[in-house]
Amino acid sequence: MTAPRPTVPSKAAGQVSEARLWARHLAMAQFGATAKGGVNRQALSIEEIAARLQLIEWATGLGLVAFNDDAGNLFLRLEGSEPGLAPVLTGSHIDSQPSGGRFDGIYGVLAGLEAVQAILEAGIRPRRSIEVVAWMNEEGSRFAPGMMGSEAFAGLRPLSTILAVRDAAGAMTGDALAAVLQAEADAVRATRPLGFAPHAFLEAHIEQGPVLEAAGIPIGVVTGIQGVRRFRLRVTGTEAHAGTTPRAARRDALQAAVRIIAHLDSLTDQPGVMFTVGMIEVKPNAPSVVPAEAYFSIDLRHPDDALLQALGDAVHDRAAGLAAPCRVEVTEIAAARALAFPERLQALIAGHAASLGLKHMSLPSLAGHDARQLHHVCPTAMIFVPCRDGVSHREDEYASPEDLAAGCRVLTECLLDLAEITP
Ligand code: HGY
Ligand code: MN
Ligand code: MN
Repeated sequence: MTAPRPTVPSKAAGQVSEARLWARHLAMAQFGATAKGGVNRQALSIEEIAARLQLIEWATGLGLVAFNDDAGNLFLRLEGSEPGLAPVLTGSHIDSQPSGGRFDGIYGVLAGLEAVQAILEAGIRPRRSIEVVAWMNEEGSRFAPGMMGSEAFAGLRPLSTILAVRDAAGAMTGDALAAVLQAEADAVRATRPLGFAPHAFLEAHIEQGPVLEAAGIPIGVVTGIQGVRRFRLRVTGTEAHAGTTPRAARRDALQAAVRIIAHLDSLTDQPGVMFTVGMIEVKPNAPSVVPAEAYFSIDLRHPDDALLQALGDAVHDRAAGLAAPCRVEVTEIAAARALAFPERLQALIAGHAASLGLKHMSLPSLAGHDARQLHHVCPTAMIFVPCRDGVSHREDEYASPEDLAAGCRVLTECLLDLAEITP
């Protein structure tokens, strides 16, 4: 890892265009636009296909080369003067939550594209290639769990299991992915095998929390990401008539689910523990029928691995007793320990923020990101910018053009250091 250049901003930072970056956000927000001003651009949807094609068009217009890998991750490459060297990657995700915002994920992709365009316009030729990446299915709202593309890239989840996952309508990830790759066949020059060791990965992202805005600080140097455990629970009871079936004779799957959720909600009511049941499906979901099935999610997070381990194990250990006389099947679909990003990359980000005259502070990420997976394969770090009221995963998510551009300038300088400027 090269030492940071003298902390005098390169010409590239000055080429970052706030207006162009903002205009691209507004253009991308049209793909899956919702009536309330957010986006519904779920993974591998027709909305995401259209957004990916727009990104490819902007990138190839700059002379970048577009690649897919077998997991549907999209790479947009600025060839360096020494193309045989491991590239520097930057990016995030294009897919959104069903009622998502205009900045979560897409900012990291568009900031990467803007940084590369600024480097080109500054006439700078990096030694290492720089690749802007859109990771496949970060959010996991349609096909669960999320981060499929970056996990496949990092060798953390077999592609075969990813492709077999079905959405609520029964569509398979593999079939939806095939449609995406087909749509891009003319525009994408090549596919590349899954996984290689990049030189480094940087992800710019909105904070999705209130800390930076409250501190009045535009740049967050992310220290790490808290741990997470994700579950699906399927409670099985017996359908029965709501008017004629006495309580003692009932096997009410929804009441059993409520007992499990209430118990775990109370157990996890501790400082810093994030416990969320965001999805529940009831069958037959008819007002006068005792529910036969309740299928729901649990999203559990905390920065302390030991506490997360204990609370997650309680989900497995206590569900069956609480579900009786119904049955319950507990499936843990994802788990990741807390992580700390390399100090030297954090120092690189802080150094360039300072050289650009931008106030900055260190903070952990409570949200998950693809950087969590890349951390396993190369030196990885994140740059945060503020979002209004800390709101995200909501249609009124907002970040200012100034903050988006400031984060992009820091990203640009860090990428140049990591890609090593050709003397
Ligand atoms: O859930 C998360 O933390 C991420 O925003 N998908
Ligand atoms: Mn995100
Ligand atoms: Mn998100």
